[in-house]
Amino acid sequence: MTTTRLPDRTADRVLALEARQARAVAGDRPRKRGKFSARERIDLLLDPGSFTETGLFVRARPTGDGADRPYGDGVVTGCGTIDGRPVCVFSQDSTVFGGSMGEAFGEKTVALMDLALRTGCPVIGLNDGGGARIQEGVVSLALYAELVRRNVQASGVIPQISVVLGPCAGGAAYSPAITDFTVMVDGASHMFVTGPEVIEAVTGERTSAEELGGARTSNSLSGNAHFLAADETEALDTVRELLSYLPVNNLERPPQYAPLPPPSGIPLDEIVPDRLGQAYDMRDILRAVVDDGELLEIQELFAPNVICALALVEGMSVGVVANQPAHAAGVLDIDASEKAARFVRFCDAFGIPLLTFADVPGYLSGVRQEQAGIIRRGAKLLYAYAEATVPKVTVVIRKAYGGGYAVMGSKHLGADINLAWPTARIAVMGAEGAVGVLHRRDIAAAEEPEALRAELVAAYEDTHGTPYPAAERGYVDAVIAPRDTRAHICRALRALRGKRAPMPERRHGNIPL
Ligand code: HXC
Repeated sequence: MTTTRLPDRTADRVLALEARQARAVAGDRPRKRGKFSARERIDLLLDPGSFTETGLFVRARPTGDGADRPYGDGVVTGCGTIDGRPVCVFSQDSTVFGGSMGEAFGEKTVALMDLALRTGCPVIGLNDGGGARIQEGVVSLALYAELVRRNVQASGVIPQISVVLGPCAGGAAYSPAITDFTVMVDGASHMFVTGPEVIEAVTGERTSAEELGGARTSNSLSGNAHFLAADETEALDTVRELLSYLPVNNLERPPQYAPLPPPSGIPLDEIVPDRLGQAYDMRDILRAVVDDGELLEIQELFAPNVICALALVEGMSVGVVANQPAHAAGVLDIDASEKAARFVRFCDAFGIPLLTFADVPGYLSGVRQEQAGIIRRGAKLLYAYAEATVPKVTVVIRKAYGGGYAVMGSKHLGADINLAWPTARIAVMGAEGAVGVLHRRDIAAAEEPEALRAELVAAYEDTHGTPYPAAERGYVDAVIAPRDTRAHICRALRALRGKRAPMPERRHGNIPL
C-alpha cells in the first residue's frame, strides 16, 4: 500500500497547505448560467474581505468505494460582517451533489448555527439545493431535524434570514419557513414540499415549478416568502438593507442613525377623503411620518390590505403596521391577520417599537373566511398585540370599527400612547349597519323611511362617528391635527424608550396556530 508522505520542510508544508486550499475552493464544477457560485454570493453579501471560513477541509463522508469526497461537502460556512456588524452565513453549492445535505454538510451547517447562537449574531442561509442527500439516508434527515431545532432555538434570539437562490425542495423548505424572513429571486427560486412530477403522479394535477412555488407564487399567494428580488444581487442587497434595521440579537438595540426629516409637501390635513367610502393610499401617510419617507415593506405582495414595514423615526427602527384602504378597504382577512401577527411578534422579539395606523372596517365576514378559520387565525393578531411588550403607539386615521378597533393596537391590548385624527370614527360598526340593526322596525313603519334612515344615520355619526367618546374615556390620549402626527409620534417614542414590562413567569403562551 502506498502512502502520501507530507513534505518535511516547513516551507514545503506551507506550499502544500496553499495547494490544498486552492483545490478546496476551486469550485470548477459547471453551474447554471446567470448564477453566482456559493463563494461569490458570500462575497456579494458581506463587507469586502470580512469573510472567515469554517470547515474548509471538511470532506464528504465516504458513501462507497471510489465515491467522490469533495472538500466542503457542498456548503460554504463562516462568519463576516455586514456594515461592520457580525453575521454568520452558510451558502449551499448546487454544483456538489446538487447542494444536498449530507452528513458533513449538515454538521457544518449546524455548527455554524451554534456559533451564531453563542456569539449572538444574525444567521443568513443562502439556499440552493436538493434537500436531504438521498445516498446518505437517515443521517441527512437527522441533520435537517438538527438544523430545524437550531432554527427554533435561535427564533427570537438572533435574526434569521433565508435567501432561496435555486431549488429548496421537500422537507428542506421547512428550515427557511421557521426563519424570520425569506428572500426569493424572480424566475430562479422554487420552494415546495413536493415537486410537479410527484404531484402529477399522486393527484393527477399538472403544474410547473414556477406555478407551484416560484418566487412570485411564494410572495403573493402562499406568503411563504417576504421579498421578491429581480436577481441574485438584488436579493443579497435586500438582506443587507433588512439587517440595517435590526439589532444583532434580542439583547441589543438596533443601530441608531442620524435623524432625517420626512419629505415635505405631503398634505396630511387633506389626505382623508370627505366621502367615507373613498379609498386613499395609506403609504402617503406613512411616508410623511417616517425618516426620509423610507419604508422597507415586508410581504408587500401578500395580503396588501395590511402594510407591514420597517422604517426609522428619529433614526430609530420602528415596525409599522397599517391598514391599507386602497386594497379591500383595509379589511382584516385571514391572510392580513397572519401577516401582521407574525410581524408584530418579530418586532416584539427584537425590541423594535410598534407603530400602528388604523383605518379598518373590521374582520372580513363571509362563508369562506369563516370556514377557513378567521376566528382561530384572526385571533393570532389579537394575541400578538396583547403579548407584545415593546413600546406601542397607535394612530386611528379613519375607521376603527368592531374587532378592527380592538385589534389594531388599541389601549385595551396594551398600547402605550393612542392618538386619533379628527377624522377617526371609533364605533362598533358603521352608521348604515348600526341604524339597520337598531331601527329596522322604526324605519319599516315610517311614512318616509329614507328620510328617517338619513336622520338616524346623521345622529349616529354625530355621537359614534368621531374619536371623542373614546377620548372622553381616555382610550385615546389625544385627538391631533394630521399635520402634527410625526411630532406626536416622535415625542411618544422618546418617552417610551425606557419602557419596562415585567410579565409573570411561564413556559410559554399558547398562541392559536
Ligand atoms: C442527492 C441530489 C439530490 C438529493 C439533486 N441531486 N437532489 N443528490 N440527494 N436530494 C443531484 C442530482 O442527482 C444531480 O446529480 C444534481 O444533484 C443536479 O440535480 P438535477 O436534478 O439534475 O438538477 P435540477 O434539474 O436543477 O433539479 C434540482 C432539484 C431536483 C429540483 C433539487 O434534483 C430534485 O427534485 N431533487 C430531489 C429533491 C428532494 O426530494 N429532496 C429530498 C427532500 S426531503 P448529477 O450527478 O447528475 O449532477 C428533505 C427532508 C428534510 O429534505 C427534513 C426536514 C425536517
